[in-house]
Amino acid sequence: MARAAPSFVCQSCGAASSKWSGRCDACGAWNSIVEEVPLSSGPPSKALKSRGRSITLTDLSSTEPAPPRTASRLDELDRVLGGGLVPASAVLVGGDPGIGKSTLLLQAAAAFARAGLSVIYVSGEEASAQVRLRAQRLGLADAPVRLASETALRDILTTLDAERPDLAIVDSIQTMWADNVDSAPGSVSQVRAAAHELTSFAKRRGSAVIMVGHVTKDGQIAGPRVVEHMVDTVLYFEGERGHQFRILRSVKNRFGPADEIGVFEMTGGGLAEVPNPSALFLAERGTPAPGSVVFAGIEGTRPVLVEIQALVAPTPHSQPRRSVVGWDGSRLAMILAVLEARCGIPFAGLDVYLNVAGGLRVTEPAADLAVAAALLSAREDSGLPPETVVFGEISLSGALRPVGQTENRLKEAQKLGFSTALLPVGGKSGTIAGMTLTQMSDLTAFVGEVFGAG
Ligand code: TYD
Ligand code: MG
Repeated sequence: MARAAPSFVCQSCGAASSKWSGRCDACGAWNSIVEEVPLSSGPPSKALKSRGRSITLTDLSSTEPAPPRTASRLDELDRVLGGGLVPASAVLVGGDPGIGKSTLLLQAAAAFARAGLSVIYVSGEEASAQVRLRAQRLGLADAPVRLASETALRDILTTLDAERPDLAIVDSIQTMWADNVDSAPGSVSQVRAAAHELTSFAKRRGSAVIMVGHVTKDGQIAGPRVVEHMVDTVLYFEGERGHQFRILRSVKNRFGPADEIGVFEMTGGGLAEVPNPSALFLAERGTPAPGSVVFAGIEGTRPVLVEIQALVAPTPHSQPRRSVVGWDGSRLAMILAVLEARCGIPFAGLDVYLNVAGGLRVTEPAADLAVAAALLSAREDSGLPPETVVFGEISLSGALRPVGQTENRLKEAQKLGFSTALLPVGGKSGTIAGMTLTQMSDLTAFVGEVFGAG
């Protein structure tokens, strides 16, 4: 059989081309293109030319029972999964090296095993003895999890097919080696083949499969985004190094809401659940200082209060610095531009640093107003009134737009002892006992209200 023509595949985005080049046309990455033998090296299928059997069609109204779920009783994990683990589902857990994926999945393996599932944990990265040692340290050694250290995908699949566990955990897909694919482990073809084989195993046998995937420095699950399409659920495990908080975020979930988060704390005894993240994120807050503002946000289905910190200082450089941790840099640029154009408050010649405390990454536009408040407070060197929360979206015209779940945000703020909220006009706020709501329709009014005449 003739070997298929070589194909050049970008290891960053998975785009294929027929010739090598230094820069990927699809994603713009440099030096990411590697020659790989394509997965299918057989002749094009003739079968498609002949008639196939006709498939059964149904209508939308056919009733389908909700998938049975198993809860691990790690509530933070169960919520992110959409209420528990669904049989025959394929889950990908991505995250930076060293963030705690193996720890999380070992704890999950033990929790699901204790909840009555048969669980197999395959590590391609650590020897069984290492995993056992970690299990002992975490107090999980008595959980009925069966363990293997293996990277040969064929052997793993044969074993899984024979054992038919309820849950198989594979750490990580980058270490798996499919012997029918002619490229090195960790390459796009190998990762794609491993993810495909494990996903089809899940569908074929009704077992749930959880795979670990490492993330590249620009935040993509290493190499193939194609893997994200194959699986049912994609979770990211994220956090700041040097911070003990870890956030498990669902970015795709065919069996539950996306954008749900679970919060954990890395301790000496493994990952501990954080059932009330607001209290924890605010615990580090001392007396309110200029530049510090509490944002009442929503993460998934849950309100989360978090401190937004800004520092504004004269720059020694011709090009002032704009440095952001935990928020979107281009959104910061937009808010600075709106403050300048609509309120006449310039930030030229000033360095701006913005930080979301606790290692949380905020993606909601509802944080706009809290960011603007933090920037103004830092610039004016004057703190907001104490016990105040802020939220609302800012439009380019300088108008404030109401955001969703206003009432939930206010209730959470009240629960944590806040007495004042600054928010846009509109939005279903209801009345919250013990809270003063100050509602404004545009940013100029906000500046006037909070910092005196704008
Ligand atoms: P690990 O789960 O190996 O990360 P990953 O699989 O994502 O690469 O976690 C490694 C880090 O977690 C390591 O730096 C040590 C820390 N850690 C703790 O702080 N406490 C613990 O109980 C465990 C098991 C790990
Ligand atoms: Mg690991």
